Amino acid sequence: MASNNIEKEIARRRTFAIISHPDAGKTTLTEKFLLYGGAINLAGSVKGKATARHAVSDWMEIEKQRGISVTSSVLQFEYEGYCINILDTPGHQDFSEDTYRTLMAADSAVMVIDGSKGVEAQTRKLFKVCGMRGIPIFTFINKLDRDALDTFDLLDDIEKELGIATCPVNWPIGSGKGFRGVYDRERRCVILYSDTEKGTKEGTATEIPVEEEDRLRGTIGDEATDKLLEELELLEGAGAEFDLTQVRGGKLTPVFFGSALTNFGVEIFLRHFLEMATSPLPRKADKGEIDPVKEDFSAFVFKIQANMNKAHRDRVAFMRICSGRYDAAEEVRHVQGGKVMRLSQPQQIMADERKILTEAYAGDIIGVFDPGIFSIGDTLCTPKQSFCYEGIPTFAPEHFARVRQIDTMKRKQFVKGVEQIAQEGAIQIFREFTGGLEEIIVGVVGVLQFDVLKYRLENEYNVEIKMENLPYEHIRWIENWQEVDVEHLSGTSDMKKVRDMKGNPLLLFVNSWSVGMTLERNKGLVLTEFSRN
Ligand code: G4P
Repeated sequence: MASNNIEKEIARRRTFAIISHPDAGKTTLTEKFLLYGGAINLAGSVKGKATARHAVSDWMEIEKQRGISVTSSVLQFEYEGYCINILDTPGHQDFSEDTYRTLMAADSAVMVIDGSKGVEAQTRKLFKVCGMRGIPIFTFINKLDRDALDTFDLLDDIEKELGIATCPVNWPIGSGKGFRGVYDRERRCVILYSDTEKGTKEGTATEIPVEEEDRLRGTIGDEATDKLLEELELLEGAGAEFDLTQVRGGKLTPVFFGSALTNFGVEIFLRHFLEMATSPLPRKADKGEIDPVKEDFSAFVFKIQANMNKAHRDRVAFMRICSGRYDAAEEVRHVQGGKVMRLSQPQQIMADERKILTEAYAGDIIGVFDPGIFSIGDTLCTPKQSFCYEGIPTFAPEHFARVRQIDTMKRKQFVKGVEQIAQEGAIQIFREFTGGLEEIIVGVVGVLQFDVLKYRLENEYNVEIKMENLPYEHIRWIENWQEVDVEHLSGTSDMKKVRDMKGNPLLLFVNSWSVGMTLERNKGLVLTEFSRN
């Protein structure tokens, strides 16, 4: 039974991920959030920017030294009574399946868009995964201190590209050199832009009610005032009504404008976000929905991070607590492993350090030492219970390579290594449709994973490999393979039939046109981008 305290702790939790295309300002925004929470004193120290941009070989070194990557973990901080968990979704080169899986552990997402670019490729990909889960999405259009695209065009872009309705909570007045501030639609006032607060908390900004038109004209000028009034009129007629239920169902995204770098509009965004976003919600399991408050402790593993250190082949399993309170002194049941045990060295990752924790609540993420027993998607609960959370889907890899060991005598180590690394979820492996494991095709979401594979096979399994890149970019599982004659599918010339490790047939294509063509040629064929089994 949940005590009052557990209920309170869970109600004040907000667990979210920030999705964006590289360089849109995710790191800068996170820094500002942490600044408000007092987790750091001066913005600018979440992670060494240099770290994120290092070349591949350096990245490996960094991983080795630290044992675990800070760039792909979670930050927890307090702000005005809320306990906030930000899940980092690694971008740049370290974009991988983990980036997608992290979204499985979030209750909502903040989408950062560069105002001069609109929706970009990586945002689109990450958004798809959020859309699949129907989690609320909050949009922050950043870099208004630089010349931005037309505001209506930006909103249109989000609606068309992502298929979600938008509702601007505030409205920008100009951009770049002409940026004057934002209009707060709820409070009907203009908040004047100032960049003097850089690196500090937002402080008190000057506000002018829109009714005081003369004062407004005197401050931001006639041209900006006229344009604002005109745009507001258009907006009243065109924009979607604000509806919290729609927001929480992931059908409508509230949109905010600001500049993370100059710290404008960030705190307003954070406040609204915390109010509109939900605390942890029930999650689906095989025995029905699990209520975060009413049920005792339960969690699922969403990420496993292998240590790059050859000397210790340890791994850290990240789990998201879905219900109740976790007490480090108590035993838990690892359902898939069929064992009751005490979790080893439970920890939370805070900025640049790890701290051992004694308790945590639904919404929190903990990392535990994994001696090789956990798999992605595994459920943990109290010893009294036994149930499984819905599995984490396998996401479509976007890069493929044929992999062979150089020394044929090392066949066994090679297969073992590749299979173990695939089990951790770092890569996906496929084999020829009719053949065995003579030839392995490796698929990854981010190209860096190829280097990780090569490095780990050499260092941990003592196997040198040769990789030949394959041109495929699109992968589709055959959802109704029992009903179609897979052997005789009429595909395109670039199509390749393979099987995943579970034996499920799937198709690889060089271009998206071929996907459509194959569907057209084979009536009744159902293809999916995710594998749920
Ligand atoms: P990311 O994590 O999404 O990849 O983006 P990040 O915050 O690292 O920001 C990318 C670049 O954009 C950085 O500049 C950052 O200073 C800048 N930036 C972020 N928010 C704003 C904003 O509101 N306005 C303006 N004008 N710039 C912004 P950089 O030169 O690449 O890095 P740095 O050397 O300044 O750290």
